[in-house]
Order: sequence, then structure tokens, then C-alpha cells
Amino acid sequence: MKLEIDQERLSSEIERLAAISDAEPPAVTRIVFTPTDLKARAWVIARCKEAELAVRQDAIGNIFARWNGVDPAASAVGTGSHIDAIPNAGKYDGVVGVLGGLEAIRALQRSRFQPKHSIELLVFATEEPTRFGIGCLGSRLLSGTLSADAAAKLEDRDGESVDEVRRRAGLNGNLQDVKLATGYYKAFVELHIEQGPLLERAQISFGIVKSIAAPASLRISIEGAGGHAGGVLMPDRKDALCAAAELILAIENAARSSGAVDTVATVGVCDVFPGAVNSIPSRVGITLDIRDTDLARRDIAMQTIERASHEIAGRRQVSIQSELLNADAPADCAPEVRAALADSCRQHGVPFLEMVSRAYHDSLFISRIAPTGMLFIPCRNGYSHRPDEYSAPEDIARGALVLAESLAKLSG
Ligand code: HGY
Ligand code: MN
Ligand code: MN
Repeated sequence: MKLEIDQERLSSEIERLAAISDAEPPAVTRIVFTPTDLKARAWVIARCKEAELAVRQDAIGNIFARWNGVDPAASAVGTGSHIDAIPNAGKYDGVVGVLGGLEAIRALQRSRFQPKHSIELLVFATEEPTRFGIGCLGSRLLSGTLSADAAAKLEDRDGESVDEVRRRAGLNGNLQDVKLATGYYKAFVELHIEQGPLLERAQISFGIVKSIAAPASLRISIEGAGGHAGGVLMPDRKDALCAAAELILAIENAARSSGAVDTVATVGVCDVFPGAVNSIPSRVGITLDIRDTDLARRDIAMQTIERASHEIAGRRQVSIQSELLNADAPADCAPEVRAALADSCRQHGVPFLEMVSRAYHDSLFISRIAPTGMLFIPCRNGYSHRPDEYSAPEDIARGALVLAESLAKLSG
């Protein structure tokens, strides 16, 4: 089977999708269910229909584009990723897996390959946590990792619930129906940029993921006492921002001193109230994103942070409340999917690196219901979640080729 990836077309589609954004190029911002995201979703659906795939959406907005196999009732082989993008992001995170997956299917169609098991492209709804505070909402619901009730209640910063937002986007189905039956997918493969520097440093074209790190996130609010920046003397203050600053450094220290470089912790959001130059901050809200390839080590770091919280609150006489948003187990990738990817790399004589994914992906949750694997391609300097995120067209096309061959193998 001679497979040809149309690199030209794939590159131009990536550029076209990047232009559907709420940020000045080269940055991309595409927050789930915003008018821009809806436009991007419609554009991707049109491309899938052009490829004569049967398209449907579920109640949370996961998009399924299916190429029916000889036995349409049999379990399918899935591939895909996400097109929502955090603020000031790049063009490739998620998009490479969606448009690369689509081009992989088109290449198989052009080669006259006939899949026994249907091959399905899946565009996950809201992989990024930006809007609702928790990532991978679509794949959590598909895998039953998050209940429909809990999902419906999640709210964005304007207090709009998932239910309100999705219904306004025309998604009126029942969230209870999103969960996929066990065996729905025979296998699932996600193509993604590495979002780290290892492949580029090693000059290796492919990463075959062994496991996906375990993410946890919390919202933490610190309540002190406000007051006049001139009139309140230092010994009398309960400054919420100073307490938050100590806590943020304690978070950094908990990750740095965990005993392994795999423990990472980030405070990416810090809201200060009232946010006036001459007013002592009375309330601060921060978010904590903490991950590790080892679940126990991550949880020990979280306990260290909790102890630091209590100590700071007592000494500074402020209150510090944490709300756990998610604390997920890591995922091991399936041997049969890793083998299909490795065979294809070997067929082309292209070296690959077996590696851990430090970013989380929808595959983390799909792995709960199907044998799952991920194929990484290099990204320049390992940059991601920033406008200068970049993957070379040749690397993307090669990734789509290995993906196509692996899908063919897995769909028998
Ligand atoms: O944060 C992550 O790991 C993913 O890019 N959402
Ligand atoms: Mn991302
Ligand atoms: Mn991603």
C-alpha cells in the first residue's frame, strides 16, 4: 500500500485554521464555544464532509467523523485531538492531531485501502481548561471519568454553566448520553506535538508515548483584610497578596524538592481584589496546576503544599481555602498501539524515542476505555502554549504518514 500525504494541503489547512482566532497572528486564541471556536468547528466539519466522512456531534460538542469499514457495527479505530486553544497560544497544539488525522484518512482513501473496522476522527470538545477550569471535558465525559451532572454545573468566569453555554451553541442533547460504550474503540491513536524539547535535542523524528503524566488542579482563595495603603501600619496588616506570594513560593519549592524532576507545579492565574494601587489586597484567587509521572509523588507534593497553606494562614491570620478541580491518575499507553507505531517507524527506517508525555491529552481519558497510544513530533525549542510554537511541515506530514499506516494496521 503506497501512501502519500499531501503536505501542501495539510500545511495550508493548518494555516487556514490558525486564521480563525481571537488573537493577532502568529498567536492563536480559540476558547471553546466562543463564536470563533464555533466557526473553527464548522470549518473542520466541512473538511470532514468533503472527505465523505459521516459526521455527528454529541451533547458536549465532541465531533465524530467516521469512515465506515466493511463491518460498520464492529468497534472502530479512533484518532484525533482538539482545536480549542488557550489565550496567546500557537497553531499546532491539538490541530496537528485533528488535521493530521484527517489527512491520514484521506491518504488511506486515496490509496484505495478498505478498513475492516471503521476509522473515526474525533475532535474533542474543550481539551483546554481555560473556560471551565478543568481540561478534557469532552473526553472525561466520553470515558465516564466525570459525571454528566458534575459537568453540567461547571461555570466559566462569567458564571455561565456548561449547560447554558453548550445549549447556546446548539448542543441540546443529554450529557448522560455522551459516555461511550466499552469497546466502542478497538484502539485510539493521537498525533500531537511533543510540547517539550527532547525530540529536537536528540534529532529524532518521532516520540512513541509510554505514559501520560498525572495532572491535578486546584483553585485556592486567600482572604485577608483590606484597608488603606497609607493608614494601615505593617504590623496591623493581613495582606492577602503577601500571603499568596509566600504560598506560591512554597508551591514552587514543593515541586523542586520532590526528589524528581518529573514533579511540576504552576500558578498560572492570580486574581487580586480590589486591585487598586492604594488598597491592601483583601482577597486573592490563584490556580494550581501540579503534575507528575508518579501519582504518589504528586500527591506527596500536594500534601506538602497543604501543610504550607495551613502554616502561612496561621502565621498571617488569613484564611486559605482550596477547591480540588481534578486529580487524575497517569495513563499507560497500550502495547499493541505502541507496536503499530513502532513498526511503521521502523518500516521507514526512522528512529523513535519511547517517552513520557508531560502534557496531558484527551488520550489520558480515552485510555480508560480503549487501548490508546500517542505519536509525538518535534516542536522547535519545545515551545508550546505560545505564539512561536512551531513544527516543520515535513515533520507534520511524516507524523500523518506513520499515523495513517498505524490506523491501517489497527483497523485490519
Ligand atoms: O495543559 C496541558 O497539558 C494540555 O496542553 N492542555
Ligand atoms: Mn494545550
Ligand atoms: Mn494539546
